[in-house]
Amino acid sequence: MRLILLGAPGAGKGTQAERIAAQLNIPTISTGNILREAIKNGTPIGLQAKGLIDQGKLVPDDVIIGIVRERLAKADCANGYILDGVPRTIPQAQALLEQGVEIDRVVSIEIADEVIEGRMTGRRVCGTCGASYHIVANPPKTEGICNSCGSELMIRKDDKPETVRHRLAVYHQETEALKGFYENLGKLRLVNGDQPIEAATRDILAALGE
Ligand code: AP5
Repeated sequence: MRLILLGAPGAGKGTQAERIAAQLNIPTISTGNILREAIKNGTPIGLQAKGLIDQGKLVPDDVIIGIVRERLAKADCANGYILDGVPRTIPQAQALLEQGVEIDRVVSIEIADEVIEGRMTGRRVCGTCGASYHIVANPPKTEGICNSCGSELMIRKDDKPETVRHRLAVYHQETEALKGFYENLGKLRLVNGDQPIEAATRDILAALGE
């Protein structure tokens, strides 16, 4: 299965990608997590991305296309993958097509802007492995500690309400048009993201025919 998860910031892409990846035994490629790791390690890409991410702006297409090309070339992608948060613009989607990146299904997780803010204020993320939690909807087993790797959880800098509002505006301006792009290719399915996490996973698996 080669899957793209689309959706607004906070729609639940990372949460669902983790669950679907475990179920189908395929890797998740999250450009957000890759960029945050690059920032942590102070790489040239990280230095370029930091200010943009903190302001809720998109990282340039050529940087993202390079990151994805490099990641998809790794052996663990041979049997499928989940692209989480990429593509994010029409040029990124076109680049994937031109590079012959195979996509079987595109699932857009649908959620109203009004629901997003509550999700973001309750979000806690693992600074080490990138796992995402919510203090009410999806709490870790031990408060403040990642279930997967035992590291401390933190609040993302770009989850401040004013930055979230900007990220939502960017989503509507740049990313939402991808639904039409993939609908024209006959690959798009819509799933309701405003329901319990388990129910959304069930609907995504159904949309994949699993
Ligand atoms: P990225 O990390 O991809 O952020 P995003 O797309 O804005 O998405 P989020 O990670 O905020 O949300 P999500 O949909 O994964 O939701 P989650 O599952 O965590 O990108 C960050 C930045 O990097 C971008 O702004 C940009 O600068 C840059 N970037 C990345 N990719 C790029 C690209 N391709 N091109 C250019 N720039 C790029 O859930 C959110 C919260 O809700 C969590 O607390 C979760 O526990 C909770 N939750 C999830 N599902 C439910 C549910 N069903 N019910 C209740 N709560 C739920």
